[in-house]
Parts: sequence; C-alpha cells; structure tokens
Amino acid sequence: MSATVKTNGIRKPRNFPLYKTLPGFIRNPLKEIEHIGRVADGDLARLDLGASKPLIATHPDHVQKVLRNSGDYVRAGTFWRPLHGLMGDGILGEGELWALSRRSLQPLFTTRNVNTLVGRMAETIDEAVGELDGPARDRRPVSASAAMIRIVNRTVLRVFFGEKVSPAEIERLGPAFEAVATKLVFRFLLPFVPEAVPMPGDRAYRRGVQIMDEVMYGLVERYRDDPGPGEDIFTALCRARTEQGHTEQGHEVSGRWIRDNLVAMFATSTETTSTALTWLWPTLESHPDVARRLYDEIEQVTQGKSVTAEHLPQLAYTRQVVQELLRLYPVGWLFPRVARRPDSIGGVPIKAGQSVLISPYLTHRLPSVWDRPLVFDPDRFAPGRGADRHRYAYFPFGGGQHQCIGMHVFNLEAQLVIASILSRYRPELRGFTAPAAPRIGATIRPSQDPKLILHPLDRVR
Ligand code: HEM
Repeated sequence: MSATVKTNGIRKPRNFPLYKTLPGFIRNPLKEIEHIGRVADGDLARLDLGASKPLIATHPDHVQKVLRNSGDYVRAGTFWRPLHGLMGDGILGEGELWALSRRSLQPLFTTRNVNTLVGRMAETIDEAVGELDGPARDRRPVSASAAMIRIVNRTVLRVFFGEKVSPAEIERLGPAFEAVATKLVFRFLLPFVPEAVPMPGDRAYRRGVQIMDEVMYGLVERYRDDPGPGEDIFTALCRARTEQGHTEQGHEVSGRWIRDNLVAMFATSTETTSTALTWLWPTLESHPDVARRLYDEIEQVTQGKSVTAEHLPQLAYTRQVVQELLRLYPVGWLFPRVARRPDSIGGVPIKAGQSVLISPYLTHRLPSVWDRPLVFDPDRFAPGRGADRHRYAYFPFGGGQHQCIGMHVFNLEAQLVIASILSRYRPELRGFTAPAAPRIGATIRPSQDPKLILHPLDRVR
C-alpha cells in the first residue's frame, strides 16, 4: 500500500506530525525514526518538527537522486550546523574549498596508494593488539570501545597523519575528540535549538574543541612555511597551502583551512572505524554460528602467526562480516542535505531550501529492499550474491561526489584488526545483555559498552 496521497498528479509526502512523533522521540529517537522509515516504506516522509520540517528519503532511487546531484543537494542547513561548527569549510564542507581539499587529499587514499601502506598498517595493528596481552593474561576485562579506539587511533595517526604529529599530541587528540563526538549528540539531535541555549555536554564539547585547536594550530605553526617531505595528510594540506595561497574566487587557503581539514580527517577516519569495530563484539556474542565460522577462517588463514597484508585476500568471510555489520549498523547513519533549487523526488515537489535527510540506517532496514532486514546474515555478501541489488540499497560510505575517500582504508583496517585480535584471543563478553541496541549521536554506537575478557590462544612466534 502506498502511503503517498495523490492530487492532480502531484504526490505528497507522507506526513508525520510532531504531536504523534514527539513521545516516541523523547523515549527513543532512533526507534521513532526507524518506525517512520518502516511506515513510509520507501515513500518520501515529511517529519514535522515544528520549527523544521525535513523530508526523509529512503527509497534507493531517491537516495541516488540526492547523492548523485550533489550540486543541487548540498551539505548545509540546520542539521549540518553542529558539524559545520566543528569541521568548518574543508573536506566536509562545500564549494571551492571542499574541492581543493578533495583534490589535495584524495591521492593519499587511492587503492594503489593505500595498498602500499597496508604493510605498515598491519604492523601497527599487530603492535597495538599485542598490548592486550597484559589484561588477557590477568583475565582483566577491557572496555570494547576503548580498546577499538586505541588500536584505530594509533594506526590512522601513524600511517596517515605521519611522523609530524608527536605521540604526546596523539594522546591528547584521542580523548578530546571522544568528548566532542559524544557531547555533540544533543546538538545533533536537536539542531534547531539556538546556540545560546545551554545543553548537556556543551562544556565538555568546548573543552574538547579547545584541545583539538591547540594541537592542530600548534602543528600548523610548526610546519606552515616548510612542510618538508612526507606522504601524509598534514604534509599534503601544508603543500596545498604553500602552492595555492588563494582559490580562484579569492578564498584564502589559510591555517584555519588546514586545521578544519585535520579535524575533519581525524573525525572521519577514527570515530567511524572504531565504532564500526565495537559493534563486532555484541554481534558475535548473539550469533555463535557466525563467530565459529569467523574463528575458523582466521585460524586456518593465520595459523597462529601475526596477521600480515598477505593474509587479507584469504579472509573472505571476515570481509562479509564487516559488510554486514555496516548494513545493520552504518555508523554514519544520517546525511543531511538542503535543496538549492526547486526539484522533485519521486513526484513530490521540492522547494529550494528544503532539508532532505538520507539515512543508510533506514534504507538498509527496509523490508521492501532487503529480505529479513533485521537478521544479521553475512552470507548476503557471499560471492555471487546481491548482483541484482540496487546500487543505493547499500550505501554505508555514501555516494556521488562526496563518497567516502576512506572506504578502502576502512575495509583493510577492519579485516586486519579483527583477524589480529581473533588470531590471539577468544573473546568473552561481560556486562552485556543481548540484543545489542543502537544509540545515536554523530555516529551510531552500541548503547552498552561491552567488557571483553580475552582468552589467549596458542601462538607461533
Ligand atoms: C566505518 C568506516 C567509515 C564509514 C561508515 C564512513 C562513511 C562515510 C560517509 C557516509 C561519507 C559521506 C558523507 C556525506 O555524503 O555527507 C563519508 C565521507 C568521508 N569519509 Fe568516510 N567513512 C568511514 C571511514 C573513513 C575513513 C577510514 C576515512 C579516512 C581515512 C574517511 C574519510 C572520509 C572523508 C574525507 C569524507 C568526505 C568526503 C567528501 O565529502 O568529499 N572515512 N564517509
């Protein structure tokens, strides 16, 4: 049954008035959004939030239209404001400064370049995972999210931010960003509340931003005039600045531009990856059959030795598990856009200035798009399956011009982290009650932070 009302050939979006949705939003915002997505079932939904009335587009055709026409549907407006306040006008912005950022950074993330770095990634991951030996020997529980954050931050910073960021700076950036990401949640969920109105988490957020600014501007000061050699994010940005003082339209390629890009790159490369990996542990706990297959594959491939780049092509099931994790829990769960000119989506007229929300979380859970959408089944991604799937049935990394540049990095990194941990230990979860429930902030993460007891396996040295 289509929920859209037709009048004179023009379709209207399905309306969800505030008085109906508010109680649900207060109880559990994600569940309420999921409910709206399910009821609208691929039709455009209009969310009446009082001051703001965004449309939610979930049908793969509609998602495709918005993401492929990135000049018409831009990252701006109320929903983007909290992120824009933090990341400014760099790779997460729009226009000329975004284009310059993308041109400067993309060469570092091509498949070819990333493949040259994978050996270094594997070594760093092996070293960081090895530090879990202590707690494992003592049967001491470790926080799953803290362990993932530590491993991912070290890898990304060492491999992609280069030698110029000191270990002391890395130690400061991790917790500062964590505070910012967590506390951003209220602003993100209630974007129409004016900045002047204080909200929970504001102070920790400001402190986190201050620390990030100190570190990032400190780096800019040290290297701005002579970035020196290096194939890393920071050096690439400094070089772009030295080579191009101003854009054609006269925007200054400033220290602020470098800082904005560093914060954006740090945010996109660490938080997403560690959160995605945190989902693995409660998921394996609830799916012992999947866990068994995963353990078997890793055992057979690594034979109790350290995981290296050469093992990656053989870790096919590990890869499927990662893909399925990102289907059910796409950590970047909401992409807000604003229409720049009048248009129509699925026959519904769109006015200039209209907010349109895209959410892989919703599309990935539509029964009209996915068979048994709530079931965790990595075999959906088995070789030969899904050939007839719509390109935008599955889009955890977005699409169009703004498609994630770190997709290949993530895929390799996730396989390496999972295989490294499971080639050394068997996990046991503590303090966790199934099923894993998602909680939203800037990313989507498990509402409980499971504690891991890691039982050491015999290893070949
Ligand atoms: C689980 C891991 C990741 C997920 C789910 C993810 C998801 C996404 C999504 C959905 C977008 C598009 C946002 C939009 O259209 O508004 C995006 C953009 C981006 N991602 Fe990722 N990402 C991940 C990991 C990474 C990593 C590891 C890096 C870098 C090493 C990275 C760098 C970026 C950048 C720079 C952009 C902005 C691209 C642009 O606008 O031109 N991401 N990511």
